[in-house]
Amino acid sequence: MKRITVAFLSLVAAVSLSAQLRTNAVRPAPPPAPPPAVTPAAGDALTGLTAAQRTAFADGLADFKSVEEVADGLGPVFNERSCAACHTTPAVGGGSTRTVTRFSRRVNGVFDPLTALGGSLMQDHALSLADGVSHAFTPESVPAIATIVVQRRTTPLFGLGLVDATPDADFLALAQLQASRGDGVVGRASVVDNIRAGMKTVGKFGWKAQVPTLFQFSGDAYLNEMGITTPDFPNENCPQGNCAELSFNPAPGINDDGSGPVLLTNFMTLLAAPPRAAQTPDASAGEATFDRIGCTACHVATMHTGANANAALDHKTYHPYSDFLLHDMGSLGDDLEMGSATGREMRTTPLWGLRFVTRYLHDGRATTLDQAILAHEGQGSGARDRFAALPAAVKSKLMTFLQSL
Ligand code: HEC
Ligand code: HEC
Repeated sequence: MKRITVAFLSLVAAVSLSAQLRTNAVRPAPPPAPPPAVTPAAGDALTGLTAAQRTAFADGLADFKSVEEVADGLGPVFNERSCAACHTTPAVGGGSTRTVTRFSRRVNGVFDPLTALGGSLMQDHALSLADGVSHAFTPESVPAIATIVVQRRTTPLFGLGLVDATPDADFLALAQLQASRGDGVVGRASVVDNIRAGMKTVGKFGWKAQVPTLFQFSGDAYLNEMGITTPDFPNENCPQGNCAELSFNPAPGINDDGSGPVLLTNFMTLLAAPPRAAQTPDASAGEATFDRIGCTACHVATMHTGANANAALDHKTYHPYSDFLLHDMGSLGDDLEMGSATGREMRTTPLWGLRFVTRYLHDGRATTLDQAILAHEGQGSGARDRFAALPAAVKSKLMTFLQSL
């Protein structure tokens, strides 16, 4: 409906924006005006955007917040009615303590996502008569045969356009650098199917780095969190795996012509990195300790975007405190196999914006930073042990640093 009417315009905007973002096009002349000195607040757009880019951000934000209805293709089963329902804190585009459930099992060593029973992602809501549909669907539940049941916390999206704009080669080079150190802390670039590119590229997004681009994540989340089908994700989820239920689907076929994911991508691409708190001498001392005890082996402080026709993303330096690589985290791993990640492998969580986070780790099990750090296993155990051995005063400055991010 509205989606269809805006389709043409947004496609035009989108094609030009994504062309700008995805090609290493020559930088447009004249050079952009110097960005204002103001640091964007959480939820703001990048600085230095053109008027057209600011409009693309605002339109994308509106779609991110828009509450989907049956006519838009919501359901039959879903988790929430808008992206913004989960990505809330401390502003739209952030994370939250909202978790989703994934269930699966492993039989004779072979991972089974239990797709036939609606896995691995569970949709805990369903369309009911109150939504004006004639058939009431049932929210999914964990089937008895599932042996792996994990919660996944909603991650913040601030600054991810910078990550999307970082060349795959940089992540591969980082993994090689880690391997050359010979200390056992070796990440692996996740390599996953990139639907639009028609080939495998580096996975950077999600707890297991299972998704290669913000664009692909948009379509994935539209389908799997909200039940909205798009050209790249055309197949509706069968409620609890029972595809016969789809004969009652009030909005069959492709719900969105592809313009929705483009709008959402524009918003996330242009969403600024989270602002850092004022740096104090204690925080600086804490950062030196963070580096010295080996946290930066994985939580890499500084990354750079590549060439980009969008001046706000062109050769920018940013500070995610992550390498976006998969690391064998031993028993901290969630046991799921996704993309190219094994059960024990997890993507290094970016620590920027940590002061806005209240529950830590993939399942939100840790309520303090101390608990989150002490839970590091596998490749993280060396740094964890050095952390545990720190004198109280040194540890406290390290905490001050983490809380300044
Ligand atoms: C029901 C809650 C929920 C809704 C609704 C939701 N998300 Fe998420 N989002 C999550 C969770 C949980 C994760 C972590 C996913 C994972 O890796 O398991 C996530 C992760 C992401 C990521 C990856 C971030 C990173 O750190 O790499 C992106 C991008 C994203 N969501 C975009 C969206 C968009 C766009 C929408 C709307 C179409 C949306 N999400 C709707 C809960 C939600
Ligand atoms: C081997 C790589 C590696 C090393 C070394 C490492 N981390 Fe991590 N860190 C991770 C991964 C992977 C996760 C996500 C694990 C999960 O949730 O399953 C993580 C998660 C975290 C989190 C939770 C963030 C959140 O939002 O949930 C904090 C805090 C953290 N690390 C701090 C540290 C500190 C401090 C050190 C040094 C003592 C350190 N890490 C060393 C890989 C590493």
